Amino acid sequence: MKYFILFINIYLTCIYSERTPQIVRITENQTVDIGGTTELSCSVLYSDGYAVVWQKLEKETNELNTLSSDTTPIMRDSRMSLRYDTASTTYTLQIKDIQNSDAGIYKCTILISTNNYISKEVTLQVNSPPIIYDNSSSTMIVSENNPVSLECYAGGIPKPLISWKRENNAILPSGGTVYRGNILKINNVQKEDRGTYYCTAHNNVGKSVKRSIAVEIEFPPIVRASKSTLQQALNFDVDLGCRIEAFPDPVINWLKDGYLITNNKHYRIEQLSIVGEYKDSTLLISSIKPNQYGIYVCRAVNKLGQAEAQIQLYESESPVCPPACGSGHYGSGMLLTPNSEFIFIVLIITCFMYS
Ligand SMILES: *[C@@H]1O[C@H](CO)[C@@H](O)[C@H](O)[C@H]1NC(C)=O
Ligand SMILES: *[C@@H]1O[C@H](CO)[C@@H](O)[C@H](O)[C@H]1NC(C)=O
Repeated sequence: MKYFILFINIYLTCIYSERTPQIVRITENQTVDIGGTTELSCSVLYSDGYAVVWQKLEKETNELNTLSSDTTPIMRDSRMSLRYDTASTTYTLQIKDIQNSDAGIYKCTILISTNNYISKEVTLQVNSPPIIYDNSSSTMIVSENNPVSLECYAGGIPKPLISWKRENNAILPSGGTVYRGNILKINNVQKEDRGTYYCTAHNNVGKSVKRSIAVEIEFPPIVRASKSTLQQALNFDVDLGCRIEAFPDPVINWLKDGYLITNNKHYRIEQLSIVGEYKDSTLLISSIKPNQYGIYVCRAVNKLGQAEAQIQLYESESPVCPPACGSGHYGSGMLLTPNSEFIFIVLIITCFMYS
């Protein structure tokens, strides 16, 4: 009886095994970088008389594309090859120089009859380095006290992480030096927030990529006089200066007693741009006449507003240096007399006394 059961067991196992082909092993899911190589293996048993095929499930069409049948390659791609190992009845599909389009599901199938088959599958994921999409922000121009959103989108597999930084690792308006996420939002921009922002996309495949976004903040002018009061002796030269900060570029005017000052033989206006959104404006008065003492206004206007600073010019008994040092440098000519050397020395002494 014992032997009979054992015999039946062996007999059934034998019949069952012989009649039932099976896939014993298939390669685990693969993740390969672009340009890499992979091997997908499928080991079968009892497949004699049946076709063993490797197929790829095409993502777009959802169709099965047959790559090989038994030991015959069917694909027309020189990057793919098929190897068969008789001892282990293993069909190995090798893919070299992997491209994005190789990603997908690969199926190993034993075809038993038209509608009967056994199959197992392996997923091939192809990693690709990050790229930043063009729908990310480029230069932004926004008015002060408004919100602004800087956007950065990137592709790549695995999905890249986006991080934000400012030039020179400056503190972000949101606080900290690094912000992670697609959108960097500033709720209430201030002129201090202007400058270059960088978004970086990285996914540990290849190099990370960076995009720079210039942020311009429009703000009304801020005007400061270099000195609010100045003194100079009659017939000497004097400079009135003011520094303006504004964006966009302001129109800068000098006024006296409500009248706009223009370049003429008594006045000359010089403008100098400085780094950032700073400008220096200087009103040069040559050889002051009595009616030129009084209050001057330096005024700057842009589309967001206007601002001004006042400078009061008094008469002094003796010349003030600078600018009344050396030869009369705004073309008054009064110091270039035959006695100019003597006057020059006197002026130098005066300068030291007053400075
Ligand atoms: C392989 O990948 C597929 C699709 O992503 C997934 O459904 C399956 O569970 C994975 N298999 C293993 C063994 O991780
Ligand atoms: C940006 O472009 C990419 C690729 O063209 C697209 O997938 C994504 O949805 C776009 N994002 C936005 C917010 O427009």
